[in-house]
Formats: sequence, structure tokens, C-alpha cells
Amino acid sequence: MENKYKQNILITGGAGFIGSHVVRLFVDKYPEYNIINLDALTYAGNLANLKDIENRPNYTFVKADICDFDSILKIFKDHNITGVIHLAAESHVDRSIKDPFTFARTNVMGTLSLLQTAKECWNSPYEGNCFYHISTDEVYGTLQFDGTFFTETTKYDPHSPYSASKAGSDHFVRAFYDTYGLPTIVTNCSNNYGPYQFPEKLIPLFINNIRHNKPLPVYGKGENVRDWLYVEDHARAIDLIYHKGKIADTYNIGGFNEWKNIDLIKVIIKTVDRLLNRPEGQSEKLITYVTDRAGHDLRYAIDSSKLKNELGWEPSLQFEEGIEKTVKWYLDNQEWMDNVTSGDYQEYYQKMYINR
Ligand code: NAD
Ligand code: TYD
Repeated sequence: MENKYKQNILITGGAGFIGSHVVRLFVDKYPEYNIINLDALTYAGNLANLKDIENRPNYTFVKADICDFDSILKIFKDHNITGVIHLAAESHVDRSIKDPFTFARTNVMGTLSLLQTAKECWNSPYEGNCFYHISTDEVYGTLQFDGTFFTETTKYDPHSPYSASKAGSDHFVRAFYDTYGLPTIVTNCSNNYGPYQFPEKLIPLFINNIRHNKPLPVYGKGENVRDWLYVEDHARAIDLIYHKGKIADTYNIGGFNEWKNIDLIKVIIKTVDRLLNRPEGQSEKLITYVTDRAGHDLRYAIDSSKLKNELGWEPSLQFEEGIEKTVKWYLDNQEWMDNVTSGDYQEYYQKMYINR
């Protein structure tokens, strides 16, 4: 298909948390690009996340499953896809513990089906093509409390079915460069937070529970450490790496922002209580220590100095500012939260896209 756009970029998982921020950034910043958002609209996909840009001329949504090779091939051909930013995945560790097969299917087989499609549709020397795979720091396993960081050369050592499936997909992506020369890039990012995150993940779940005076289930002793990055900073890094990153390379993305879970939870409680005009610390009584997550990684911490030194990326937001913005967003968007927690968002959009 001939069209007026400089690039036709397939963004997978664009109806999810991080994907929706990436889609919005690309649609806004690059009117010369045609952005095709491919998403299966699983429980985690919500087109309400993109309401503000859904009618833009350079944006198209396609409902499809990345594991469905024939559909993906057709979409590639119909839209003359020149680049891929691949975010579609099953993303929640607790779900992966209950249902590892779904994670292997989507994250490994789905990624493989996209790679195989790109290989069939693009021609060597692949000028202007890029297959950019978004991955996680969880593939590196766990750190101890010893001040070390994950770097791009840290050996893969995944522990959860989620991280094992992401590691598998990362290996396939690299194998497609090594074997077929497909132009690929992989990035491994730390925990993201911000608007539109599905409330199964720690931060939105706890904000919503505090609002409704519901218990806050802290796994184990709350001593595990995560390195938190504001989602729009991740989207900016993706934009930079898609355009300036070296083919076949890997970049770690992180905020140098480690928080012990229990300390982070106390900051969230304080912020929600303040914004709801409750007495300071009133909601601390909601903290409920529960059985630890199986195989719970102790500490994640990313060294993102390669990305800073080579491409000049740094997080733009201080954590205090990011968490304030995030809590405020969830409190101001209770309708979004209610639709997600009740399941109404799915009925509405599933009906719209059924049988397309
Ligand atoms: P998410 O669960 O919010 O969104 C995933 C999206 O993928 C959803 O819109 C869902 O409908 C879609 N999807 C799932 N299975 C699909 C399939 N078979 N076909 C097509 N679409 C499908 O996830 P997220 O938190 O936005 O994460 C996005 C990506 O970033 C994932 O690859 C994840 O591994 C990675 N990542 C996430 C984090 C984080 O903190 N959330 C950190 C680092 C990397
Ligand atoms: P989560 O948001 O699920 O991200 P990930 O497991 O990918 O890091 O969890 C962040 C941390 O919070 C992790 O150490 C597990 C912990 N946690 C709880 O203590 N209680 C909860 O209800 C959830 C969802 C997470």
C-alpha cells in the first residue's frame, strides 16, 4: 500500500499501560508517521486509555492476537509496516504463577510470530526497518542488598514464569538478528508507574484500596526493593532508542530510584490521605502483611548509564513529583478505575471490535 507517511509503525500492546503512552507520544510527536496500534484487548487492554487520540488521522487501531500468524502477516502487508515497537505481553507476575502457559504462548510464541512476519515482509539490507522489543529487568533475576546493579552484560537468570517467558522472547529477538540479520533492538526496563496502569499492580491497586478503605496486602515483610520509573520517561527513552539506538544492541532503562516496598507504600498512603483531606497516616492501619509471593525476587536495580552516556537519556521527573502526579491522576479519574475494576470497559470495546 502506497501512502503519504514516512514510516508505518506497528506498536503492539498499545491499549495497555506503557503501550498507550508510547502510542500517544508517537501520534502526537510524529504526524509524518502512520501509527498502527495492534492489540488483542485482553483484560489488560483498554482503548479508553487512548480516547484523546483515537480520531487522529495518523492513528489506526487493529484488534488482533500476536500469536495469530496469518492475521499478523495480513496486517503487515495491508499497512506496509516498516518498523515494529513490540510491547504486547502478559505482564503480571502473580498471574504467571497461576497460569504459566498463557505467558509462554503470548510472550514467547507471540513474539516469534511477529519476528517471523517481519522476516518474511522485510528485505535485506533492511534499510529503514527496525524491530524493537520492549523487555524487563526481571530477566536478570534478583540482586542482594549489596549496592550492585543490573547492567547490559548481567547474565540472564529469570525466576518467575513471567520473567522466564520474557527472557525467552529476548533470546528469540537476538537470535533473529544473529541468524537472519533482522534489525533488532532490545531494552530492559525497571518497574514503571503512572496513569493507566491496570490495578493489579502495586501502585494503582494500593491507591484504589486506600481510597475505598480496603486492606493493603503487603507480600512477606515488605522488604523487597523495586526501581521505579515514571512511564512517560520510559516512553521518551523508547522514542530515542527507536530513532538513535544501535541495531543489535541492548539498553537498560531505569530511574536510579530504588524503594523498599513498605517505604513506598507509606509514601502512597501519606499522599492519598493528604489529597483526600484525611488525617495524616490514617490509612496505615490498612497495611496487612500476607503470605509472600512464590519465588519473590528480592531486589531489582538498573544501571542505565549506557543509555545516558551513548544517547543522553535521563529520567526527567523526580520520584516525589511523579508519585504526586500519579496519585492525583487515579483520584481524579475514578470513573476510569471503576470501569476497569467492574469490567465495564471490556464489554464496551469488545462489542465495538467484535468480528472486525
Ligand atoms: P499491560 O499488561 O498493561 O499491557 C499489555 C497489552 O498487551 C494489553 O493491552 C494487552 O491487551 C496486550 N496483549 C496481551 N496479549 C496479547 C496478544 N496475544 N496479542 C495482542 N495483544 C496482546 O503491560 P505493560 O505494563 O504496559 O507492559 C508492556 C510491555 O512492557 C510488556 O512487554 C512488559 O513485559 C514490558 N515491561 C513492563 C514493565 C512494567 O513495569 N509494567 C517494565 C518493563 C517492561
Ligand atoms: P508488581 O507491581 O506486581 O510488579 P513486579 O512484581 O513486576 O515487580 O509488584 C511490585 C512489588 O510489590 C513486588 O515486590 C510485589 C509487591 N506487591 C505486594 O506486596 N502486594 C501486592 O498486592 C502486589 C500486587 C505487589
